[in-house]
Amino acid sequence: MALAEKKTILAIETSCDETAAAVLSVADGQKWPQIKTLSSIIKSQIKLHSKMGGVVPEAAARAHVKWIRSVVKQALKAISYKLEAVDYIAVTVGPGLIPSLIVGVEFAKALSFATKTPIIPVNHLSGHLYSPFGREFSIFNFQFPNISLIASGGHTILTLMKNEKEYKILGQTLDDAAGEAFDKVAKLLKLPYPGGPEVAKLAKMGKPIINFPRPMINQKNYNFSFAGLKTSVLYYLQSLSTKHSRLHLPSARADGGQVALSTKQDICASFQQAVVDVLVTKTLRAAKEFKAKSISLSGGVSANLKLRNQLRNSCAKENLNFFVPPINLTTDNAEMIGIAAAFMLHNGFKPKSYKQIQPDSNLYL
Ligand code: KG4
Ligand code: ZN
Repeated sequence: MALAEKKTILAIETSCDETAAAVLSVADGQKWPQIKTLSSIIKSQIKLHSKMGGVVPEAAARAHVKWIRSVVKQALKAISYKLEAVDYIAVTVGPGLIPSLIVGVEFAKALSFATKTPIIPVNHLSGHLYSPFGREFSIFNFQFPNISLIASGGHTILTLMKNEKEYKILGQTLDDAAGEAFDKVAKLLKLPYPGGPEVAKLAKMGKPIINFPRPMINQKNYNFSFAGLKTSVLYYLQSLSTKHSRLHLPSARADGGQVALSTKQDICASFQQAVVDVLVTKTLRAAKEFKAKSISLSGGVSANLKLRNQLRNSCAKENLNFFVPPINLTTDNAEMIGIAAAFMLHNGFKPKSYKQIQPDSNLYL
């Protein structure tokens, strides 16, 4: 459906532990959709889940039920907008935690039923994939082919985008996602949840002096594997523990709880460097093989400054355009769901009746 006139999208995201809503206005530009974010509200559940050391699906769903009405209301109220004036409701239908997805999807369906507004069902991963193309997409001269790396808590996927509509998955993680590895290493070091930002914080003060492995870095495919790297961190902690007990020093237990702060900082810096080296090397190799003109980066791990900077510098050396969303669009939010919905409309998608919408926790990109 070409968007001859300006339309308004109300976007809703509840796939994991953020209850989020955003309102965007979209119109077709000469080449790309002109997207403007009018409001964006995120109610984070970090406090709730940090007590448990990770996301508890049942608790997440209950919190979504508690917050969704007021989050959507706030997104509309922030711009004095009435629900009746919304043209489309975009909602994340998967992948994600099914109890969480159900809340957002059923809420969107109820709104659609009450106001006769059609629904755009959005894949959460397309939300990440298109998140770098939001606010600045029409300003830059975006060039395809593009290699896009999505690195989040649940996924690590490398895609080749031929244009703004067609893309192909080149590879993905065979076990843990990059964000999951950050979270698990944080747990080993007894850092608070969510672990990624905590590891990054300590890494800033440390030196990458421990030579952790760079899994699959030299393999000629575009898959990833981070579970072994996490295990290497565990073995390293265990080796510290053995050394300390041999010297009759106070124990630095394998759980990392009692490791000296400076050692923790070095472990974080070394682990982070290993993940970044693998992600950047394989992304650049894909760009070379597929003669890409640009690279984009998205997902929660793209909040990591080391990753952003190393990939940006590598792109500059290779004369590739680099696109990354602003930090507040890296972790889960509804704005990216609205951006993906705008591209779906631009690419000819026909919005659906609420009767045709179902959540799917295992949805593929
Ligand atoms: O995209 P996202 O919000 O949720 C999923 O779709 O999975 O990503 C969350 C992930 C978590 O694993 C979190 O630890 C990680 O992104 N993350 C980071 C940073 N900020 C968030 N990882 C490394 N460095 C960061 N600064
Ligand atoms: Zn996500």
